[in-house]
Amino acid sequence: MDLFEYQARDVFEKHGVPVLAGEVATTPEQAREAAERIGAASGGVTVVKAQVKTGGRGKAGGVKVAKTPEEAEAAARQILGMDIKGHTVHKVMVAQGAQIAEEYYFSILLDRANRSYLAMCSKEGGMEIEQLAEERPEALAKIEVDPNVGIDDAKAQEIVDAAGFDAETGAAIVPVLKSLWTVYHDEDATLVEVNPLVKTQSGDIVALDGKVSLDANAAFRQPHHAELEDVDASDPLEAAAKEKDLNYVKLDGNVGVIGNGAGLMMSTLDVVAYAGEQYGSSPANFLDIGGGASAEVMANGLHIILSDPQVKSVFVNVFGGITACDAVANGIVGALQKLGDEEDRPLVVRLDGNNVEEGRRILAEFNHPLVTIEETMDGAAAKAAELAAAK
Ligand SMILES: Nc1ncnc2c1ncn2[C@@H]1O[C@H](COP(=O)(O)OP(=O)(O)OP(=O)(O)O)[C@@H](O)[C@H]1O
Ligand SMILES: [Mg+2]
Repeated sequence: MDLFEYQARDVFEKHGVPVLAGEVATTPEQAREAAERIGAASGGVTVVKAQVKTGGRGKAGGVKVAKTPEEAEAAARQILGMDIKGHTVHKVMVAQGAQIAEEYYFSILLDRANRSYLAMCSKEGGMEIEQLAEERPEALAKIEVDPNVGIDDAKAQEIVDAAGFDAETGAAIVPVLKSLWTVYHDEDATLVEVNPLVKTQSGDIVALDGKVSLDANAAFRQPHHAELEDVDASDPLEAAAKEKDLNYVKLDGNVGVIGNGAGLMMSTLDVVAYAGEQYGSSPANFLDIGGGASAEVMANGLHIILSDPQVKSVFVNVFGGITACDAVANGIVGALQKLGDEEDRPLVVRLDGNNVEEGRRILAEFNHPLVTIEETMDGAAAKAAELAAAK
């Protein structure tokens, strides 16, 4: 999960990384009020910054310096609603204005290829780090960080030396790098990037921008990370599915797909896309019900799939393993009874695996007018694609 800059700022502050005051605003008026409070400490100057999870905000006009609260309001009016690389700006951060002497770059990331962490640092930070890395890679120091040791005094010194800082600046940066390591380690991040890390005219080192990615696999031991999630941005059905522990993904076709297990899910999508070519059909979404296909899980899954108005037919493709096909069939029957009139689109079911005969028998006996039973995956995909096109 990627954080917004304002969230990264808060996480930095929590772990002792020097940051400037910042407040989030969703309206120009709020931005003016924030600037009145925050600007007082910096001669009235604030910086209004678009909060979007993409880079290059400054270049796109999403970062504006304001000398007065009125200017901050005007800047927010311009930035809110702006589109930056396909991301609409819904929030800005009003940050205290810094008197920048120099801009540096620093990041820590997961180096999968080397099964290690990598720290990168440069005296030449700011907005063009990608270009710098390409054109003059020698200006970007890359230092491996042993995950078991992290960035201690010695490692931080090695990093600032490799980046070519003078002794005094290096000494000021070392404690900041150690705090940024604390962020990376204690928050289970996979990326912590500061561009720019600045030296102010009074010689202080401050993180002026922050990008943090958190490792979702560590969510179980980071319960507070759930609050950082951007619920507004995710698809409402994806959010509803997540609440029920189901994996749902929205696509843009017309066939709803339910299956069990990631591998079967992927091949099902391929088969539907292939079979759908001649009908102009393709998957509208897919939902992985995982191992337990009980009536309740099935009903929840079907309810979510059918809540998508683009779905014109549903393909249920389940391979019975530990949960046998008869249990899955009972799940489908229970789900259809539970959903009643809500289920008004045709359902094509293909069951295979453990206890398949009994599963098919249960569905045949139920004899629901909207349910078609198919024996093969290809046949079922073709049927679902055809029914979706006919609707
Ligand atoms: N609080 C601040 N005070 C003064 N100048 C700032 C402040 N925040 C940012 N700036 C200036 O604006 C530039 C761009 O800001 P920032 O790094 O936050 O956005 P960006 O780099 O364009 O966005 P991204 O990192 O997402 O690509 C900085 O390099 C810095 O010169
Ligand atoms: Mg930046």
